[in-house]
Amino acid sequence: MTDEKNPTTSTAKHGSVLVLGGGIAGIQSALDLADAGFKVYLIEKQPSIGGTMPQLDKTFPTNDCAMCILAPKLVATGRHPNIDLLTYSDLKKIEGEAGDFTVTINKKARSVDEVLCNGCGLCVENCLVRFKPQKPTHYDAKKALEKNDLRTVDGIINTYGKTSDALIPIMQAINEHYNYLPKNILSYVAQEVDVPLAQVYHVATFYTSFSLKPRGKHIIKVCMGTACHVRGSPRVLDEIQRLLKIEPGETTDDDMFTLETVNCLGACALGPVVVVDEKYYMVKPGEFGKILNTITLEKSSPLVAEVKQ
Ligand code: FES
Repeated sequence: MTDEKNPTTSTAKHGSVLVLGGGIAGIQSALDLADAGFKVYLIEKQPSIGGTMPQLDKTFPTNDCAMCILAPKLVATGRHPNIDLLTYSDLKKIEGEAGDFTVTINKKARSVDEVLCNGCGLCVENCLVRFKPQKPTHYDAKKALEKNDLRTVDGIINTYGKTSDALIPIMQAINEHYNYLPKNILSYVAQEVDVPLAQVYHVATFYTSFSLKPRGKHIIKVCMGTACHVRGSPRVLDEIQRLLKIEPGETTDDDMFTLETVNCLGACALGPVVVVDEKYYMVKPGEFGKILNTITLEKSSPLVAEVKQ
């Protein structure tokens, strides 16, 4: 595939280049070289390219969405005719001199058919190496429940149906009723909808709206995303910690408040943002005491006496 009239098009190959590391820098280098007509071998030791950028919320200093920048480049790299992706691979040896190198690459076994794999993740959930099949136990989750709890949970399960598809709505309803997911109830749900308990915990720990620990009556979420961070959310968080005497992830002794931090609530223009019981507040440092007093208005005396104006 050569194009002598226009050697800079992607069809005109000038030689081959090896790019080591499939982070954003490696990806961009590979795309630029491939567009210039070089055959590129992009080596990445992890099972997929992308590096740490997919774990970022926003990028500094432009505050752009990290995934919005990265995703088109991932697709372009995978589709580029001049790029050969060698993921889950290590560079073992390099010999030769400038212009004539020979490299030895160790490509680790993936134990899946890479052509057929569509990334559904089911093989991870059902891996027989990580999750050894357990012998059936005779634990009866139903007997471990109080009568009231049993009535409540049966009501919820009957509303949504005893199918694995109903697992998340059932867990949402339980979480809403109890303000967290009690472990004995999760065991009963797993038994009733016929889903492995490991999968139930997988769901329970994946979504931040679920909690395995009892939570307070009011949930306070402080946004620590980039936009809120630069506008003072760490000072707002300090203030809330000082007022409530708890750290993020903890609940006050009277079970009134649970403090959590999140990374972006989708209201960056309002930052610093604090959400209390799903209500959004634009909070300046020193102002949260007023909000706490509003929430606890039903009490005879305000929770926070020393509000800084
Ligand atoms: S960073 Fe987006 S809402 Fe805080």
